[in-house]
This record gives sequence, C-alpha cells and structure tokens, in this order.
Amino acid sequence: MTDFTITTIGDPLLAQPAPAVAGFAETQPMFHRLTEALRELRGAGLAAPQIGIGVAAAVIEVRKTELFPDRPESPLIRLANPVIDAMSDEIVEEWEGCFSVPGLLGIVPRPNEVTVSFRDAEWNQVTQTFTGYVARVVQHEVDHLHGRVFLSRMTSLDSLTTQENFLKRGR
Ligand code: NI
Repeated sequence: MTDFTITTIGDPLLAQPAPAVAGFAETQPMFHRLTEALRELRGAGLAAPQIGIGVAAAVIEVRKTELFPDRPESPLIRLANPVIDAMSDEIVEEWEGCFSVPGLLGIVPRPNEVTVSFRDAEWNQVTQTFTGYVARVVQHEVDHLHGRVFLSRMTSLDSLTTQENFLKRGR
C-alpha cells in the first residue's frame, strides 16, 4: 500500500500551473508513487498535484472498470513536462470523472487525437500521438498540470451526475 492523500478541488495545488520536473533524478520515485497510487485507485490517469506533488508529471494506464466496462485499455504511460503540440479538429464527447472531483461525472467534448511532447521515465524526449479514449485521458491530465479540471471543459452542465445515478440509469 502506498501512502497518499488525494487533493480535491478547492486545493490551490489543483488551480495553478505545476512547475516543470527538474531532471531524471526526480522522476523515478515520483513516477513510482504516482503509478502505485493510480493502480490502488483503479484510475485511468493521475497527475502529480492530485497526490500533493506540485510538479508537471502524470501517469496514465487505462483499464476497464465497473464504471467504464468497455473502454479500450492502454499500456502504462509516464509523462513529465508534457506539452500538447497539436490536436485534431474532430471533437468527441465522452463521460469523464476525476478523483479530485469526488463522486461526479459529466460529458466533456475533446479533440479525438493529440500529439504530445514529453520526457518519459528514462528522461528521453518523446513525441507521441494518442487517439481515442487515451487521448482524452492525456488531455485531462495535462489540464491538471495547468490548473484545470474537467468541469471547466464542459460546454454544458446538463449532463453532470453523481456516479451513483450514472450507474443506476446506465448510459
Ligand atoms: Ni482528474
């Protein structure tokens, strides 16, 4: 078990840009903690500020869950200092939730494809294109590093629901 506390909206760490990760030495313990926390939470993505680490890093690993039984899975992706270089014109709408916005889900429109430059866990400079659900998670996590949560990406609050009601009514 990893020891971590999830920061939730209202915490200043989630409302401000996260400073860059300084270098390789910092990445190893940080990615380790983030990955352990993500797996313990059974989440799809987690940004460092969400566990109280104020740096620009995030981990993503999409797995099917009770809430999202049909989403496509991804390998473990570790992003340090990610920058979105390009996004597709095609916009897709899908449900999102966030550990820092406990209990709520809403429909968020996002580009279907993004190209991102980042440092990986070995501190290689990488540019990679993500498509579909994982591209959504990447954007959600990069938003966290800019002090934004999914609520501010919703174009209407009409879909906002509790997880409980989401499960009850189905999709
Ligand atoms: Ni989130």
